[in-house]
Amino acid sequence: MPRFAGRPETPSHTPHRIALIGFMGSGKTTVGRLVAARLGYRFLDLDVLIAENAGKSIREIFDEDGQEAFRRIESDALYSVREMNRLVIATGGGAPIRQENQEFFENLAATFYLEVSFKEFLNRTGRDHGRPLLDRSDKKLEKLYKSRLPIYRSLGQRIITDSRKPQDIAAEILKKLSNS
Ligand code: S3P
Repeated sequence: MPRFAGRPETPSHTPHRIALIGFMGSGKTTVGRLVAARLGYRFLDLDVLIAENAGKSIREIFDEDGQEAFRRIESDALYSVREMNRLVIATGGGAPIRQENQEFFENLAATFYLEVSFKEFLNRTGRDHGRPLLDRSDKKLEKLYKSRLPIYRSLGQRIITDSRKPQDIAAEILKKLSNS
């Protein structure tokens, strides 16, 4: 029996939009789907939306148009959902870093930061070819990871994910939502 089986119930004070942020491999998509199912909300993965709009993969956007172009498309995609209600959105690991996106996480959604340790990130992602930022040394990735941590922490309620099941993480988010 799935843990979240049964009729979704949404308490009236639940925010219209719930955003999940965090480094690559933190489980935003998996956990986001569970939270959305439980609340009866729609689930959106920002990278999927970007790829659908562009008609090509994230890897192709990076390779053909460059990271700056990707970041502009990412901001447009993020703000395109600003009026969507009953939505859980999982955002790419770099979305909260761009300053113009921060208003979204601060004011337009209830934001949760899924924290994964650097070691666990390496274990979970391996050398996934679909993620262009993984084409760099572990040392450079660790620098990127460390530079992002304070931004993630300042924008979202922090949830530890190492050694935890997605269901438990989703349950923690739902508990925090019902207590807020
Ligand atoms: C990125 C993370 C990716 C994707 C893109 C850039 C980043 O999303 O948006 O490859 O800058 O950390 P995930 O965090 O879902 O892997």
